[in-house]
Amino acid sequence: MSLFLKHKKIETNLVLMAVLTLITVSIGGLVQIVPLFTIETTIERVEGVRPFTPLELAGRNIYVREGCYTCHSQQIRPFRDEIERYGHYSLAAESMYDKPFQWGSKRTGPDLARVGGKYSDAWHVAHLIDPRAVVPESIMPAYAFLAGKRLDVAGMADHLRTLRALGVPYSDDMIANAATDMVAQRTVDGDAAGLQARYPKVPLVAGDGPVPTEMDALVAYLQMLGTLVNFSAVTPQQLKQ
Ligand code: HEC
Repeated sequence: MSLFLKHKKIETNLVLMAVLTLITVSIGGLVQIVPLFTIETTIERVEGVRPFTPLELAGRNIYVREGCYTCHSQQIRPFRDEIERYGHYSLAAESMYDKPFQWGSKRTGPDLARVGGKYSDAWHVAHLIDPRAVVPESIMPAYAFLAGKRLDVAGMADHLRTLRALGVPYSDDMIANAATDMVAQRTVDGDAAGLQARYPKVPLVAGDGPVPTEMDALVAYLQMLGTLVNFSAVTPQQLKQ
C-alpha cells in the first residue's frame, strides 16, 4: 500500500483519525509538561543566592513600577562580547527569587545584571536625580521625585508573606522583622546586626533622611544586583552544590 493510500485510510475514517490525533497531541503535551514537574532540579542551586531584603524588594517594585526594564535588561548572555563588557554570564539561580524575573528584552541603556558595586551610592542618587549631571550624553529620564517619597514600611511583611507562598524561603523571623530591617539597611540607622544575620552579604546604603525613601530602596536594589555569587573565587564546577 502506498503512503498516499495509507493516508487516505486515516483521513476517511473518523474514529481512526481521532485516535491517532489524540496520541500525537498526548506525546506533544507530555514533552512540554513533564519537565515542569522537575523544575526544582532544573535550576542549579548556587551558593550565595538569597532572597531580597525588604528594602531591596521595595526597590525592585519601584524598578518595575517605573518601567526601568523597558530600557534595561538583566541577563548577560554567554557570548564573549557580553561577558567582556558586563561580567560572568547570568545563571538561572541568580533570578530564582526574582518573581517575575527582570531579564527584559531591550537595551536602550546597558545591562544591569551586575551593576551592584560598580558605582557609589552617591553616584546612583546623582544619576537618578539627573542622569545628564554624571553622563552628559545620557538619554535616560530623570527620577528626582523618588528622593522625597516615603516608603510604605508597614506593608512589607505582607509582601514577604505573599512571596513565601510562591516559594521564596522567607523565615518567620524575616517576616516579623521586615519593617525594622528596611530601616536598618541604611547606615544612617546604625544598627544592622540583625539584618546582616538574616541576609548574608547585604550592602548597606547611605540613606538621605530620617525615614526610608523610594530613592534609598532603588539604590539598595541596584547595589545588590549581581553581587550574591562570588565568581572570582570559584570555578564553574564548584558553583554546583
Ligand atoms: C528611556 C530609556 C531608559 C529608562 C526608562 C531608564 N534608563 Fe537607565 N539608562 C539608560 C541609558 C541610555 C543609560 C546609559 C547612559 C547613562 O548612564 O545615563 C542608562 C544608564 C543607567 C545606569 C548606569 C549603568 C551603567 O552600568 O553605567 C543605571 C544604574 C540605570 N540606568 C538605572 C535605571 C533605573 C533604576 C531606571 C528606572 C528607574 C532606568 N535606568 C530607566 C536608559 C534608560
